Amino acid sequence: MRFTLNGSAVDVAAHPMKRLLDVLRQECGLTGTKEGCGEGECGACTVLIDGAPVCSCLVPFAQADGATVVTIEGLGGTHPLQQCFMDEVGAQCGICTPGMILAAAVLPAGASLEEIRIGLAGNLCRCTGYSAIYRAVQAAQSRRT
Ligand code: FES
Ligand code: FES
Repeated sequence: MRFTLNGSAVDVAAHPMKRLLDVLRQECGLTGTKEGCGEGECGACTVLIDGAPVCSCLVPFAQADGATVVTIEGLGGTHPLQQCFMDEVGAQCGICTPGMILAAAVLPAGASLEEIRIGLAGNLCRCTGYSAIYRAVQAAQSRRT
């Protein structure tokens, strides 16, 4: 399957019905994408496909053909959201964090708290109580505007 992964053209061999989550972690070695529930409920496996946040546990690899896929590794460790999650302690166990950050990365600039809550509604966190996550996203938003 040929697709664009974190800005680079790649050609990855895997069964077309294998979960994109597993292809990313196993064939591509990108273990930043996490598995929580494995059934589309938690958002831990969120990646961006053609700019939209998607649960990669629900995506057969065939759907990546020709697409642009971004994982947490694609943000390079320098994205303002990554710094703000550290500053605000928006991550504890960290399982939800890559998906949270990718879902937050596509929120519109200047998003309100309510818009942030709605934008992250598909991403569950068992540790933080969400307040620190929302603070981190708001802090990153303020750097964009
Ligand atoms: S692991 Fe994909 S939504 Fe939970
Ligand atoms: S930091 Fe543990 S699930 Fe969110």
